[in-house]
Amino acid sequence: MNLNRREFVEGSVAVAGMVIAGGAFAVSSAEGVTKMKKVDLAVLAKEDAFKLIGSEWMLVCAGNNDKFNMMTASWGGFGWLWNKPVVFTFIRPERYTHEFLEREARFTLSFFKDEWKDALKFCGSKSGRDFDKCKETGLKGVALESGAIGFEQSRLTLDCRKLFKAPMSEANFIDKDVLAKWYNANPGGLLHDVYIGEIETVYVA
Ligand SMILES: Cc1cc2nc3c(=O)[nH]c(=O)nc-3n(C[C@H](O)[C@H](O)[C@H](O)COP(=O)(O)O)c2cc1C
Repeated sequence: MNLNRREFVEGSVAVAGMVIAGGAFAVSSAEGVTKMKKVDLAVLAKEDAFKLIGSEWMLVCAGNNDKFNMMTASWGGFGWLWNKPVVFTFIRPERYTHEFLEREARFTLSFFKDEWKDALKFCGSKSGRDFDKCKETGLKGVALESGAIGFEQSRLTLDCRKLFKAPMSEANFIDKDVLAKWYNANPGGLLHDVYIGEIETVYVA
């Protein structure tokens, strides 16, 4: 785990989501209407991406309403590529969430108010292999229209379609100091995989 890291006009379509309890473990479903509403991509222009991702952190989640998993991430960004609005995120292959990202066509990035920081700390220090992260944190998964999973408590959710994935390779590090600093025994871990997803829907709550 890397704890020592550095550190767009709104629409109003209400979304009837399915609130689901439970994370990567057995999911019991309960019908519910979330406060999440679809908004225009332009809402992202009001966000400071450095603060949003680097300081507030986000949950990267993939899966479906039978089984999903999420983890905290503070490395990544959003912008334009291939004339599409995209996000990019960096996930080490050993993360349980990686399995879900590999399997699924979509993933979500969810952002929360400060009161959920402890939940994000939990999701960033424990694995869904060992814990039911929803049960432990009180976070409630919501099946979005696309079938991707967001969270009832999220203030901002980006529902993304996977466009590209590539593993990092040692040879491609121009600055070997970065390689040495982040891929050693401490903090340790495999080289990240880069995932780029098209932002297809933005929700706010
Ligand atoms: C603030 C913070 C940021 C993190 N950012 C990333 C990241 O960008 N990429 C990554 O692979 N792991 C990152 N992690 C580590 C994972 O969140 C952590 O290993 C998590 O327990 C993985 O859970 P999982 O096994 O259920 O997928 C971060 C952890 C914290 C606390």
